[in-house]
Amino acid sequence: MSLKPCTIDHIQGIYEVESESFREPDIYSLDLIRFLCSFCGSTSYVYEDGGAVAGYIITCIEGRSAHVISIAVKPKYRRKGVGSRLLCTALQILTSGRVDRVYLEVRVSNEPALSLYRRAGFKEIERLKNYYSDGEDGIRMEITDKNLAREFCKNYVK
Ligand SMILES: CC(C)(COP(=O)(O)OP(=O)(O)OC[C@H]1O[C@@H](n2cnc3c(N)ncnc32)[C@H](O)[C@@H]1OP(=O)(O)O)[C@@H](O)C(=O)NCCC(=O)NCCS
Repeated sequence: MSLKPCTIDHIQGIYEVESESFREPDIYSLDLIRFLCSFCGSTSYVYEDGGAVAGYIITCIEGRSAHVISIAVKPKYRRKGVGSRLLCTALQILTSGRVDRVYLEVRVSNEPALSLYRRAGFKEIERLKNYYSDGEDGIRMEITDKNLAREFCKNYVK
């Protein structure tokens, strides 16, 4: 298993993880993944197992913020630390001092993701009414505390 920066070779694999992890209307198209991967490729990663994509994170830099656009792990690889390891690639952008915060949005019903983010030190900063196209609310979360981020990632970052 290895962590690699996202390149054009990973687009199809990311799409497969995406399709197994989200329902319509949340599934990104191949074109959108291709765009995000080229635009945010230096801060986006895949986790590979035997050459196949087991999980990915897309993170884009917006000024002094890092925005986690999407993160997902194939069902058979979940609860093994892959999501945490991927999330730590975004937290490293914070701990390195390149940005002042990392933020993301999550569905209010997405308990696994909420639980991962809270555990990593993210705080809820805003309730987003009707944020998703099916009307569900979102929650915006952020982390600014580098020590919390370092503490969470100490087992995942070499
Ligand atoms: C959210 C997601 C990326 C987590 O990936 P993962 O590889 O399972 O995460 P980890 O193994 O690193 O889990 C770390 C911690 O997160 C929490 N967590 C993860 N999945 C959980 C679940 N199903 N229920 C409760 N807590 C969960 C736990 O605290 C877990 O630690 P533990 O296993 O020691 O209890 C994965 O569930 C996923 O791909 N979900 C579908 C896509 C998605 O919703 N993405 C987020 C969009 S905002």
